Amino acid sequence: MTQILDGKLVADKLLDSLHKKVSELSHISVDPKLVVILVGENPASISYIKQKQKSAEKVGILFELISLPETVTQEDLISKINELNKDIEVHGMIVQLPLPPHIDTSLVLKAVSPRKDVDGFQAYNVGKMFLNSEFETLAPCTPKGVIKLLEHYKIDIKGKEVTVVGHSNIVGKPMAIMMLNRDATVTVCHKETKDLKAHTVNADILIVAVGRPGLITEDMVKEGAVVVDIGCTKVGDKLYGDVDFDAVSKKTSFISPVPGGAGPMTVACLIENTITAYEWLHDHNFDLN
Ligand code: GUN
Repeated sequence: MTQILDGKLVADKLLDSLHKKVSELSHISVDPKLVVILVGENPASISYIKQKQKSAEKVGILFELISLPETVTQEDLISKINELNKDIEVHGMIVQLPLPPHIDTSLVLKAVSPRKDVDGFQAYNVGKMFLNSEFETLAPCTPKGVIKLLEHYKIDIKGKEVTVVGHSNIVGKPMAIMMLNRDATVTVCHKETKDLKAHTVNADILIVAVGRPGLITEDMVKEGAVVVDIGCTKVGDKLYGDVDFDAVSKKTSFISPVPGGAGPMTVACLIENTITAYEWLHDHNFDLN
């Protein structure tokens, strides 16, 4: 029988421990604060942001949403980010993606101070993560959440064959590096991979982050594998992962559901990163090394 990797349960535990940590900080006069910048009114973004706000409130940190119109210029957006970079009462900042097509996303992300980059998307934080697991100070939240989920269920990574499907800068690539940091043998597949099944079927741990419901079928998965589904696609009112859950779960030892798997872990790790950014400011005067 497969065991469910219950991201909601593990995320709630992490949020509880963060709540405790924040209440122990209460002698400090400035509270940790997360700011989210939203451009436009993408319904999926609004729904993600609501979850981030709910978790921030649960943990007892300050949260501010800055909503900018779809038509905002790149210059005005970057000048808002620069203002927040200088604001000593803001510890973590994210720019919710996707951004409208007239805005150069990489230029905007580059403007966020690496010290406040709680998404872990900045080149400085990404580069540090390459060194080893001890340098994953502000690591991207989804891969970080997956690692924590596997750790909670005591799933060994060292020496395992790990296949990551999807090579985005925010999930697939950092996921592969974090697995490598833990001595897995890592294969990364993407849209140009010639024979996807040849790589997925050998995986002890299969991690899928593509956004194509039904991509991973039962014949592509090894008996007893651990499967983590990061895909999240809304069809009508329902959310679907990339894995055919009903068929694949008959073969796995552990599998994460959608919703309730990687999603809540991502949000909890964002809150954890905000508290880390706060601690680094107050305890180490912004030195992230
Ligand atoms: N859009 C979808 N996922 C994310 C995320 O993790 N961070 C940001 N900033 N935008 C997103």
